[in-house]
Amino acid sequence: MPNRLLLHVAENKKLEAIATRNRLTRPIVDRYVAGRGLDEAWTATKALNGAGIDVSLDLLGESVHHLAQSKAATQEYQGAIENIRNQAPGSTVSVKLSQLGIMIDPQECANNLKALLNAATTHGATVEVDMEHSSVGRETLAIYRSILPDHPNTRLAIQANMRQTPEDLLSFTDIKPRIRLVKGAFDESSSAALCNADEVTEQYKYLSRWALQHLPDPAFGTHDDTCIDVVKETAAELGLDKRDFEFQMLYGVRRKLQDELVRDGYRVRVYLPYGTQWYPYLMRRMAEKPANLLLFLRSLIGG
Ligand code: FDA
Repeated sequence: MPNRLLLHVAENKKLEAIATRNRLTRPIVDRYVAGRGLDEAWTATKALNGAGIDVSLDLLGESVHHLAQSKAATQEYQGAIENIRNQAPGSTVSVKLSQLGIMIDPQECANNLKALLNAATTHGATVEVDMEHSSVGRETLAIYRSILPDHPNTRLAIQANMRQTPEDLLSFTDIKPRIRLVKGAFDESSSAALCNADEVTEQYKYLSRWALQHLPDPAFGTHDDTCIDVVKETAAELGLDKRDFEFQMLYGVRRKLQDELVRDGYRVRVYLPYGTQWYPYLMRRMAEKPANLLLFLRSLIGG
C-alpha cells in the first residue's frame, strides 16, 4: 500500500519548493519523469515506440486554483494532441481534471476537457482521464459520464481500492466505458477505501476478471506480477486475443517486464509524465516504493 506519511508530504508546498529548486534531485526525477518539455517527451516516446511500446503523455501539474492555469494546461495538451499523428501515432494523452479546473469550476473543467476531446477527434488521438483523490472523484465521474455519448473511446482510470468502484462500474448501463484499472495511489479514509494491500490486490484481481468479461478494450495499469498473471490467465480462459486488452505501466518502472510482455505478444502502454511540476507525482511514486525515498532524501541533502 502507498505509504500514508509520504502521501501527506506530497501535498506540502514548502517541501515542494525546496525539492523543485534543488538540482541534486535530478537523477531520481529523471528516472520517473521523461523531460521538462514536450520535445523531450517526444524523444522518450519515440524510444519506447521503437521497442514496440505505446505511450500516454501526461503533462505534470494538478490541483490548480486559477482558471488561467487550467487554460494554459489545456493549450499545452492541445499542442501535444495536434502533433501526435506526426510524432508518435498511437499515443494517447492522460489528463487530470484537477489540472483542467475541476476544483475551481466544474463546468469550465468540462469545457476544457471537451476542447481536448474535439481536438483528439480531429487529429486521430485518444484521451484518458486519470482518477484522482476521492474529493474530486464524484465530479470526475459525472464529467466523464457527460462526455461519453459523444466520445465513447475516452478511457477512465478506475481505482480498485475504492469501496464505491464496483457500484460505479455497474452504473454504466448504456455505453460500456473503456477503463484503466489501477490499485489507487491516494491517501483515502478507511470508510472510502480498502486499506489493506492484500485486500486491494484481491479486489484488483476480481475487477480485472469482470472488466475482461464485460468491458471493451480494458487496460490494466499495474506492475504487480500477481495481477498481471491473473489478467493473462483470465483472458486466455475467456478465449480473448492478447491484443483485446492492454497493460499499462509508469515511465521508469519495470522496464524489463514491459519488453517481456511485448515479446510475448501483449500490448503495452507507458504513462509518460513530462513538465516541471513533478513533485506531487514523484512523491506518490516514492509512497509506492519507499525504498526509493532514501535515494531522494540523499539527493536533497547532497549525500
Ligand atoms: P504494487 O504497488 O503492489 O507494486 C508492484 C511492484 O511494482 C512493486 O513490488 C515494485 O516492484 C513495482 N513498483 C510499483 N510502483 C513502483 C514505483 N513507484 N517505483 C518502482 N517500482 C514500483 N493511480 C490512481 O489513483 N489514479 C490514476 O489515474 C492512476 N493512473 C495510473 C496509470 C498507470 C499506467 C499506472 C501503472 C498506475 C497508475 N496509478 C494511478 C497508480 C496506481 O494506482 C498504483 O499506485 C501504482 O501502479 C502501484 O501499484 P501496482 O499495481 O503497480 O502494485
